[in-house]
Amino acid sequence: MAACSTGTLGPMCGIVGYVGPQDARDVVLEGLRRLEYRGYDSAGIAVVADGTLTAAKKAGKLANLEKVLAEHPLPAATIGIGHTRWATHGGPTDRNAHPHLSADGSVAVIHNGIIENFAALRAECEANGIEFSSETDTEVAAHLLAAAYAAAPAGESRLAEAMRTVCRRLEGAFTLVATSALEPDTLVAARRSSPLVVGIGEAVDGSAEYFLGSDVAAFIAHTREARELGQDQVVEIDRHRGLTVTDFTGSVVEPRGYTVDWDAAAAEKGGYDWFMLKEIAEQPQAIADTLLGRLGSHGELVLDEVRLSDQELRDIDKIFVVACGTAYHAGLIAKYAIEHWTRIPVEVEVASEFRYRDPVLDRSTLVVVISQSGETMDTLMALRHAKEQNARVLAICNANGSTIPRESDAVLYTHAGPEVAVASTKGFLTQVVACYLVGLFLAQVRGVKYEDEVAAIVADLRRLPDAVAQVLSGMDEVRELARELADADTILFLGRHVGFPVALEGALKLKELAYIHAEGFAAGELKHGPIALIDQGTPVVVVVPSPRSRESVHGKVVSNIQEVRARGARTIVIAEEGDEDVVPYADHLIRVPRTPTLLAPVVTTVPLQVLACEIADTRGLDVDQPRNLAKSVTVE
Ligand code: AGP
Repeated sequence: MAACSTGTLGPMCGIVGYVGPQDARDVVLEGLRRLEYRGYDSAGIAVVADGTLTAAKKAGKLANLEKVLAEHPLPAATIGIGHTRWATHGGPTDRNAHPHLSADGSVAVIHNGIIENFAALRAECEANGIEFSSETDTEVAAHLLAAAYAAAPAGESRLAEAMRTVCRRLEGAFTLVATSALEPDTLVAARRSSPLVVGIGEAVDGSAEYFLGSDVAAFIAHTREARELGQDQVVEIDRHRGLTVTDFTGSVVEPRGYTVDWDAAAAEKGGYDWFMLKEIAEQPQAIADTLLGRLGSHGELVLDEVRLSDQELRDIDKIFVVACGTAYHAGLIAKYAIEHWTRIPVEVEVASEFRYRDPVLDRSTLVVVISQSGETMDTLMALRHAKEQNARVLAICNANGSTIPRESDAVLYTHAGPEVAVASTKGFLTQVVACYLVGLFLAQVRGVKYEDEVAAIVADLRRLPDAVAQVLSGMDEVRELARELADADTILFLGRHVGFPVALEGALKLKELAYIHAEGFAAGELKHGPIALIDQGTPVVVVVPSPRSRESVHGKVVSNIQEVRARGARTIVIAEEGDEDVVPYADHLIRVPRTPTLLAPVVTTVPLQVLACEIADTRGLDVDQPRNLAKSVTVE
């Protein structure tokens, strides 16, 4: 079964739409280039010019499509849609690429998501004599739209009415965008549980212009005025009549407007070879921005959009932190800090497991969902399960207006700015900082910590940007080490206490960037089996806690370094300045500034990010778009 929109992992596709006075071919292709990281194994574009719909699509990266367009240009047009695809089941082929057209060629559709009942709908179309030209579910939507259009009452907005009719029949998660020769001045789009934002701009000739994108990166070069589409909504954009949003029954709704505070330049590489390197370098600023405006005039913490009363927060007697991948590692770190500061029990769970284990949730449970993109389907489905169980949900997210924060009871935005590289770095560190703020906020609201105690810890947090900048200024040795380790078959990562999630994150970075087998362990677990993995020269990275950490965790980790070195390991040690105990056992010693125990992950993670990035670069790999991965996994 081929297609962007079927299978377990599902699509992470890029969607762009435009209507206005500019050449739609240029605007759409430029938008696709900005979204390519979302999915990149085929691409396509459709435009309407002089009442005729024309489309082009091609397997492979966007460059392949551009080559086709150079040889066979589409007609100049001022309305069009485009799509970059990330296939799951079945090959990325020309015919499975989007847009998909109706049998009569009058309607073109692009799609992100899963139409779960597409097989029955496809059978219905085929029974009506429709011949399909692809294996995708998207094509079903194209044929259904054309049929619904024909059946819609004459007059304006027939395409929007047709879209509502079709959406009412679809099951699953989807973003659909359609353009048609039948209404050459109108774009229509619909969303259910899949990302879609509208941009509203003013062209140089003063006329209005409108954009659609699976995220704002598609159009921030043109406008920062955005409208978010809610669940089960249809937007009709007509060149002359402007924007109309309705629900699937046709009732008009008023979309929430917001201003995108990222500019086009921010989404460029800014002189770095890789977006990831740029984003690693942006971490001090990202942390500082995430702390900005969080402390009131009396030292009290102020969070965004907390639609939970203080009393509701005082009633919390259990916390779950739920996320995926790197965001999950941020949750593991959060557990140590939140439990220590609030004395509320915290469980951390990967989102894809959470609802299937039937967790014990009730009105006194706070579920913290962490997501950089705000669109990760596993995390969104966990959020919905928590809400169904009457728990309260707080989202930590980097994407304003995305689905996860919109469906949560409270939101704390990280202000990391656009994170384009698939491997999350500044997204991760700002998630960790945001988790600290949530823990401190809860401690403050529940009276477990006085405002001056909270302010003292926030003062420590405010020193983190400089601490991270200091680490970043001393990475030459790590870059040298990366060249030496680039041919390693496996690298192990050890840590204790808050250093254990850092070890897991360092291993994940190496796996997803350099395609090297890597594994993170709680250092105390090594002697229970994994130590058998140590061979002569096996690289072992050890994240050493502060010598001031409780119960001499530090001393135990130094012993662990001796254990692996005695068995031939090549030890790469991340340790605080002034920690001399580690020196005899470190083949490579990477220093980080002295940092309070619970806050140490914000500095100890950075060398591991740089190490993984530089090893991948040394191996000649695509650091920003690693194989098999995409930035936002928007269906479970
Ligand atoms: C991060 O390096 C990974 N690319 C991945 O694990 C990511 O953290 C995960 O998919 C969660 O994404 P989210 O934060 O956007 O929800």
